[in-house]
Parts: sequence; structure tokens; C-alpha cells
Amino acid sequence: MNQLDFTGRHAVVTGGATGLGFGIAQRLIASGGSVTLWDRDEAAANQAAQSLGDKAFALKVDVSQQPSVAKAVAATLAHSPRIDALVNSAGITGPNVKLWDYPVDDWRQVMEVNINGVFLCCREVVGQMRKQGYGRIVNIASVAGKEGNPNASAYSASKAAVIGITKSLGKELADTGIRVNCVTPAAVKTAIFDQMTPEHIAFMLSKIPMGRFGTVDEVAAMVGWLCTEDCSFSTGAVFDLSGGRSTY
Ligand SMILES: NC(=O)c1ccc[n+]([C@@H]2O[C@H](COP(=O)([O-])OP(=O)(O)OC[C@H]3O[C@@H](n4cnc5c(N)ncnc54)[C@H](O)[C@@H]3O)[C@@H](O)[C@H]2O)c1
Repeated sequence: MNQLDFTGRHAVVTGGATGLGFGIAQRLIASGGSVTLWDRDEAAANQAAQSLGDKAFALKVDVSQQPSVAKAVAATLAHSPRIDALVNSAGITGPNVKLWDYPVDDWRQVMEVNINGVFLCCREVVGQMRKQGYGRIVNIASVAGKEGNPNASAYSASKAAVIGITKSLGKELADTGIRVNCVTPAAVKTAIFDQMTPEHIAFMLSKIPMGRFGTVDEVAAMVGWLCTEDCSFSTGAVFDLSGGRSTY
């Protein structure tokens, strides 16, 4: 494992109770920083923070609710004077059905969490980063947002929107010390697999030229670097993590 320098810096990781968010939090702490995990699952977030040690804090936050996010910013700043990095990892898949069978409420829920949640977290945290004159934002999009997976129209559309918001915000902040980037992972075996059909998981694996799933550590390595000062001349960019699937 390469040593990244996140010394003395503080990150907010949404969806940090488990999966990719947890792995990213772990890597940032191993790189010398501290983290606040924002997750709607309070018990899991508390347990995750406990397992990460005294450099981790947990807050119950629903990223799709503006008052909840605004409250979380204030609560985070009560124990950390800065928010140097924001990693938007909270996300859900929605059902694996054709668009014409897609339940309207499920469609809206996927949009609420996956794109409106990213908008709200960026919106509420950017003010603090602008005050600091420094920040790193990393949005976890998906290869589905580039390619459009069948039987996942809401998820694919929401992740394409995450790519779009990353490009807009990156340009809006390009003349500041804030960098905004996203990553587009192919499938990585986490609890999110429980929300998908076995057929959909097999489809995603079949599309990866390396013939294997990605790992949490591989995602954490790239996202960890994107959270450091070394990531200075990239903004509004989309970083691939797809085992050769989306080489553009
Ligand atoms: N694992 C993969 O194959 C994969 C691939 C590409 C992209 N992604 C994306 O990476 C991100 C993380 O995925 P993961 O695999 O770690 O999933 P996961 O299900 O393991 O973790 C997601 C976390 O987000 C939290 N969460 C969900 N809705 C929330 C809300 N409204 N407010 C706050 N927290 C909320 C959950 O409680 C959970 O802790 C997601 O955005 C996902 O779409 C995952």
C-alpha cells in the first residue's frame, strides 16, 4: 500500500458505515487524517466509527433531506474546525426491472438519494470549503452512468447525473483551491449486491474485461489520492475504475 498524505486533514464520508465509504474512511485515517461518517443507518455508523478508532466520528444523516445535511455540517464543524474533503458515497440501486415496469416511487427514491443527495451535500459543504479556500470533493458515480446498464435505468440515469454535476461544480470552483472529481467503478462486492438480482450481478461481471470484480481497497486507493493535496490539476474529471470496461 502506498503512503498517501492526508495528515491533519478531516473528511466527511457519506454512506461511510459500510462498503466503499467505510473502506475510503479507513484509507484516509491510515493516511494521517480523521473522518466523520454520515449515514442514515445510525447503529451501523456508530459501530463503524468505533472500529476505526478515535479518528472517526459518526452522525445519523439522510443525505436526501436538506435540513438533515445542514445540521450534519454544523455538527461536524463542532468537532472539527475544517472539512478538507467530502466523499459522496451514499447510494442505492433501486430494483432491476425494465423502465416500463419501473415503480414510480422507486425511481424517485433512487434520484432522491443518488443525485439529490450529492447536490445537497455539495451545496451545504462548499460554503465551508470556500471559506477555507481549500477542499477536495469526490463523488462516487458508476460505470452505469457512462454506459447505461439495462434493468437499471434509474440507477444509470442518477449516476450520469452525478458525472454531470461533478463537471459543472468542478468548473464553477476551478479558480479556487477546491477540486471536484468523480470515479466510475464497475461492480465491487459489497452489501449493495443484496439490492440486485443475481442475473444483474452476473451481467455486470460479464462486462468486465479483467474478468473479476473490483475491490474496496482498489476504490479506496484512488479516492484516497483524489482527497489529497497532490490532486491539484484535475477537476470536473471522471476517473475510471472498471477493469477495462469503460476506457474513455
Ligand atoms: N459496490 C459497487 O458495485 C458499486 C459500483 C459502482 C458504484 N457504486 C456506488 O458506490 C457507492 C457506495 O456503494 P457501496 O457498494 O458501498 O454500497 P453499500 O450499500 O455497501 O453502502 C451504502 C451506504 O449508504 C448509506 N445510505 C443509503 N442511503 C442513504 C441516505 N439517504 N443517507 C445517508 N446514507 C445513506 C447506507 O446506509 C450504506 O451504509 C454508492 O453510491 C454506489 O452506487 C458501487
